Amino acid sequence: MTLKLNSLFFSLIFLVFFSCKSTSQLTKESIVPSVYTNIFEDEEGKLYLEKDGEKIYETISKSDYTLSKMKGNPRGTEKGIAFDFGIPDFSGTLYFGFIPYKDVKFPLPVYFHTPSTISKGKTNLNIKQLAGRYDMIDWQKNGKGTLGYRVVNARGDMLYDGIIPFNVTSDGFEVSIGIIEGPFVDLVTENSATISLETNLTGAAKIKIDDKEYTSKENTHHEIIISGLEADTEYQYSVTVGNNTQNYSFKTAHKPGDRKPFTFAYASDSRSGKGGGERNMYGANFYIMKKIMALAKHENISFMQFSGDLINGYLSNVDEMNLQYANWKRAIEPFTHYFPVYVSMGNHEALTRVFKKDKERYGTSVDRFPFATESAEVIFANNFVNPNNGPISEDGAKYDPDKKKIDFPPYKENVFYYTHDNVAVVVMNSDYFYAPSTGEIALTSGGLHAYIMDQQFAWVTETINYLENDDTIDHIFITEHTPFFPNGGHVGDDMWYRGNNKMRTWVAGKPLDKGIIERRDQLLDLFINKSNKVIAILTGDEHNYARTEIGPDTNIYPENYTPVKIKLSRTIYQINNGAAGAPYYAQEQTPWSNKVTGFSTQNALVLFHVSANSIEVEVVNPDTLEKFDGYKLR
Ligand SMILES: [Fe+2]
Repeated sequence: MTLKLNSLFFSLIFLVFFSCKSTSQLTKESIVPSVYTNIFEDEEGKLYLEKDGEKIYETISKSDYTLSKMKGNPRGTEKGIAFDFGIPDFSGTLYFGFIPYKDVKFPLPVYFHTPSTISKGKTNLNIKQLAGRYDMIDWQKNGKGTLGYRVVNARGDMLYDGIIPFNVTSDGFEVSIGIIEGPFVDLVTENSATISLETNLTGAAKIKIDDKEYTSKENTHHEIIISGLEADTEYQYSVTVGNNTQNYSFKTAHKPGDRKPFTFAYASDSRSGKGGGERNMYGANFYIMKKIMALAKHENISFMQFSGDLINGYLSNVDEMNLQYANWKRAIEPFTHYFPVYVSMGNHEALTRVFKKDKERYGTSVDRFPFATESAEVIFANNFVNPNNGPISEDGAKYDPDKKKIDFPPYKENVFYYTHDNVAVVVMNSDYFYAPSTGEIALTSGGLHAYIMDQQFAWVTETINYLENDDTIDHIFITEHTPFFPNGGHVGDDMWYRGNNKMRTWVAGKPLDKGIIERRDQLLDLFINKSNKVIAILTGDEHNYARTEIGPDTNIYPENYTPVKIKLSRTIYQINNGAAGAPYYAQEQTPWSNKVTGFSTQNALVLFHVSANSIEVEVVNPDTLEKFDGYKLR
């Protein structure tokens, strides 16, 4: 009997154990981050939003305009290069020509007079016809060369500028290994720099500088750190990939606290503009960006800060996003062989999951997940080389739904700071965890446009305190995409929402403690009352240039504002320059309008000429070279 009972007991235990095991095998953890609400995954793994008792399924992007397709899968032929875009009904034009790396400091393709026709997604490019009087790169003699090509669709929309290195072989041509993006000079300090580039095939890149050689790992993306450099020194460098070498130079930063003169530049909002031509290179205002970069190089700047809305974005396809970023990088490329451009995120860097009914225009959208691989933040970081010294994420904040798990997108390379001589630039991300459908944030949860969350705020506080105590730093510039005080185009949002402090970010179905105006005030208190070094906030989002005085006499509240108000102890400036090519906005009336000067819808580059304790500002139209504002900031 005892034996029988025992065996019954053991079989029961076994049954319980077995059934537990099989249920746990069946329940797969949902890919929906726990910070979102009302978004679910069904048994087939399809995502849907539950809204008003209805299931709205995710809209999947079917765009053919992706970076991998636009590269055209080039392959050598007897006469040149064959392209297959992998889009059966694609027709258009392929412009092409050699890139004369040896002759010029800023290499660009020189297009041949007759382009190729793209039909049924294919075209053949004839290199043989570029012989004799068209052979300005000596490809016939050297047996190699590099082509630039431009993909244009049947409507005349420019989609992509590509690069193909080629070799001459016994039976025609072959695609060889070479640089197809960059080299970019990044992260230039007083003793180091990073050179980054992409190659079309897997291989190594060799950098030669001052007789020292650096070789990257076999890969297609390369970031090479050059160290042990002297401050304030110009270095010639060469980059070799396969049998091709390119030669450029860069200058290291001044020693911290040297207080020698230098210039840096600021702009934002270069997403595509109207007017046709290169004002829209699928997502980027290629035309104005090239002009901005040429002017910046002419002004011999040490670095450029570019704060958001680089591209049209608002996409849900990672590879389409990569295409728009590639187009933006191509516009700046000839000049970034020489100096670094630090970039940060705006709302147009949005990469989302969209839940939309057929007739809806936008539907409901949230930052794309999984956050670790597909968030707007990660794809941005993958496309650029920025300092990695920011906060980790919003994990650990009091609203973090699971203290043991990563529940938020990373701040890596989208929140950071850097210094040059006696200047520090603190870069914030006011479109973190951004949910574009503002009206649905209470339903889905997500980041509000212009809202700075607690962990980022804590990091900014810590960073300002650190820089206040750093004797080598005299001037701190803050930058984020969204104005603290919008003046034209975004008075209904940014850090104002027409004075509506109810607006805020939501996490896991709950609104955060601080409203948008309260958080703005905490930041102003930090930058103005608790700092002596912060001199300006550089913003964009509004596609115009304007300077706003923020000080004791600036009216910063709406009528009948009940939360605690702050007093400002000194004056700093908001310098807005969202005039790098996106469609313009005119000036609107606000409580602080009497403190706004210089408002203009001209395209603009802001130049800061720093010399020890003085900062002169110059604002120049990169298209006409008209200087239309200038003043002493300090
Ligand atoms: Fe924006």
